[in-house]
Amino acid sequence: MGQLLVLDKQDRYLTVSAMKGIILAGGIGTRLFPLTISMSKQMMPVYDKPMIYYPLGVLLLAGIREILIISTPRDLPHFRMLLGDGSAYGISLSFLVQQEPRGLAEAFLIGRDFIRNDSVAMILGDNIFYGAGLAALCRKAVRNEVGATVFAYRVEDPSRYGVVEFDAMSGKPTQIEEKPKKTSRGWAVTGLYFYDNEVVEIASRITPSARGELEITDVNRAYLERGQLNVCRLGRGFAWLDTGTPESLHDASSFVRTIEARQGSKIMCPEEIAFDLGYLSADDVLSRANWLGDNDYSAYLRRCVEERLYA
Ligand code: DAU
Repeated sequence: MGQLLVLDKQDRYLTVSAMKGIILAGGIGTRLFPLTISMSKQMMPVYDKPMIYYPLGVLLLAGIREILIISTPRDLPHFRMLLGDGSAYGISLSFLVQQEPRGLAEAFLIGRDFIRNDSVAMILGDNIFYGAGLAALCRKAVRNEVGATVFAYRVEDPSRYGVVEFDAMSGKPTQIEEKPKKTSRGWAVTGLYFYDNEVVEIASRITPSARGELEITDVNRAYLERGQLNVCRLGRGFAWLDTGTPESLHDASSFVRTIEARQGSKIMCPEEIAFDLGYLSADDVLSRANWLGDNDYSAYLRRCVEERLYA
């Protein structure tokens, strides 16, 4: 999947992915009612940031700079208001509506004109990832020219997820199933997917499942059957957090607060990531901080600049 060499604002050459990115941030979020009666789940605070900042940060770390946000007719204007055209993070953002929650794979049909002939990564707007080496893993997935890469995470109760099984000898994936009945510990497929351009064609051929959705698991199975599904297992050093219920949302906030308070660094601050990647200059970050006004977040942005310039 293509890489581009571009000059940043300090005239340094940067390698940037030509891969496109999609954040799917629709759905109704009924498990969080009444919190989400009038507001998108992916807009809920996870400690000090709106939830969507976390998947946005992952795509930035992957080196992806052209990103499409897909959400409901009600919520899309709010995402546009929050994130703008992406220039605050040195990227380009576009926005499209999903009329009904007809399944994750519909994102590739909605985004067909955005994807064009490129490869594409998709991340669910409610998935939170954290761990050393995440950026390197994502960049490796971006570099993979053919097929798909997904990430698996060992969980106690895999029956709520897409689940992948592996051959004991070769370690290769043998089977992938959406919400299997079995309850023992297993490998859940997380909501972060990297595909070659074939995904658009594959998504257009699958049919709705028994629950009436175009399943991402059917897309992944198509790659598995072609022998083109790479499954990267995220080990114990990674956190993949749920945000689907009040308890798990609270736990995710506590996790972020604990790590941030201990280290003094924010998790998935998109301006900071963009600054480190050279997408934003120090002046860009400082004017963003001024625009944000007087608060903890803008103080953090100012500190990021000071630490890097005067360290
Ligand atoms: O989180 C990972 C899991 O996400 C995977 O393991 C499963 O294979 C995959 O199917 C999906 O599980 P669910 O189907 O249970 O996810 P859920 O319905 O909660 O939807 C995931 C997010 O995507 C959620 O924030 C709502 C949003 N969404 C969902 C649908 C069906 C949309 O934006 N549009 C949709 O059409």
